[in-house]
Amino acid sequence: MMKKLSIAAVAALTLSAGAATAAGGGEQHIEDVAFSFEGPFGTFDQAQLQRGLQVYTEVCAGCHGLQYVPLRTLGDEGGPHFSDAEVRAYAAQNFSVYDEELEEDRPAKPTDFFPAITAAGAPDLSLMAKGRAGFHGPSGTGINQLFKGMGGPEYIVSILTGYTGKEKEEAGTIFYENTAFPGGWIAMAPPLSDELVEYADGHSNSAHHMAEDVSAFLMWAAEPKMMARKQAGFVGVLMLVILSTLLYLTNKRLWAPHKGKH
Ligand code: HEC
Repeated sequence: MMKKLSIAAVAALTLSAGAATAAGGGEQHIEDVAFSFEGPFGTFDQAQLQRGLQVYTEVCAGCHGLQYVPLRTLGDEGGPHFSDAEVRAYAAQNFSVYDEELEEDRPAKPTDFFPAITAAGAPDLSLMAKGRAGFHGPSGTGINQLFKGMGGPEYIVSILTGYTGKEKEEAGTIFYENTAFPGGWIAMAPPLSDELVEYADGHSNSAHHMAEDVSAFLMWAAEPKMMARKQAGFVGVLMLVILSTLLYLTNKRLWAPHKGKH
């Protein structure tokens, strides 16, 4: 009887909390994506990062910059891992920077950063994947983040695929209804559509796959050393475990002569 009662109470609580969120109008739908880099041993998928870079370059870079990301990091192991020649070619072909000494624009070099682009108020994407949390629940406690991660890349995937097709105009700006964006209306027109980008590796280029690839790429851009961090964390925990075991055994041994004797 007691048990039944408490379950009913919890259900009632959850329901009222749910109703409160819905009433607030900020109910977001964030889809959980199983990214390769999740979990304590997760790593970035090199091919996915390369495809994501392509989507960023061909689609997002029209409006969004990545001004805190150095172009040379595209050659990093654990990241997209392009060869030096590929990084040089990519930089030169896609971006140009103003050279103070030459007093004119020149093709970008690996030592430059991605450009700072902000067309129509589009925010810089360098840290976006870490700056947004996808999971807040249940009831705003954030406990889901323990199991699913912060959800930054999931938030981006959900924004890119969350358009309902409805539009409205307010003060001369067009807003697009989006199920992931807080408030439900975003000023960014749907940037992706199926087969928009041609992938060289033959991977599916549905809008959803492109959204996943570019979000993985943006996660790498925001935290390029994630793999090194995880590795260091793992070694740290391992050393603590070994140390604890040794201390335990030492302690046992030291006290052994004094125990069991009265
Ligand atoms: C035509 C210009 C344009 C293109 C192309 C574009 N965006 Fe945007 N984006 C915007 C604008 C403008 C905003 C600000 C929208 C707002 O605050 O309502 C924005 C906002 C965002 C946000 C932030 C949402 C938030 O929580 O603040 C993300 C993430 C984003 N864009 C990702 C992308 C990605 C990834 C691509 C490429 C697939 C892309 N955008 C292509 C114009 C663009």
